[in-house]
Amino acid sequence: MLQIVEQKLSPEVFMALREKVDFQFYSWEDCSAALNNTFYTVEVRENGKTIGIARVVGDGRIVFFIKDVVVDPEYKGRGIGRMLMEALLAYIRRYACEKAYISLMATPGTEPFYEKFGFIRRPSPGLGSGMVLHTTANQKEAG
Ligand SMILES: CC(C)(COP(=O)(O)OP(=O)(O)OC[C@H]1O[C@@H](n2cnc3c(N)ncnc32)[C@H](O)[C@@H]1OP(=O)(O)O)[C@@H](O)C(=O)NCCC(=O)NCCS
Repeated sequence: MLQIVEQKLSPEVFMALREKVDFQFYSWEDCSAALNNTFYTVEVRENGKTIGIARVVGDGRIVFFIKDVVVDPEYKGRGIGRMLMEALLAYIRRYACEKAYISLMATPGTEPFYEKFGFIRRPSPGLGSGMVLHTTANQKEAG
């Protein structure tokens, strides 16, 4: 049985799912601090096992950033990603003001998945590129 679990994501589960899809490794301490500062987390569990995760960071009103949408590769294509996105967007809409800004950075090839939920690609007319700066060991995380 599939179950949506909100605000319970642990560093261990977060790290394990990210590792399954070869996302950048971060230490337990960094993951724990990041999750403590996260606005909203959601998991999809099947018989108690987490098979999908996602989270939102932001100011809780005007700006929301969707991060770490991950479905266990063994469970891809079964609607789990959609369940995660619908939970995230429902939660965001409870808090967002009018004309709030909901953003994300798609990994290569996942753009059509996010387009299903209304996201548009940048650059597009009137909107520049999305941009990112990755820190080095001596810098603090910027975005
Ligand atoms: C992207 C990801 C979350 C999708 O999860 P999923 O459970 O396979 O997606 P779903 O089965 O819920 O698919 C929902 C819809 O999106 C479509 N879809 C999913 N992935 C797609 C892709 N890469 N390209 C095009 N369409 C896609 C599905 O066909 C489905 O369409 P439908 O509702 O019209 O039938 C999953 O593939 C994943 O975890 N990828 C690795 C991690 C990653 O890159 N995450 C994105 C971080 S930005």
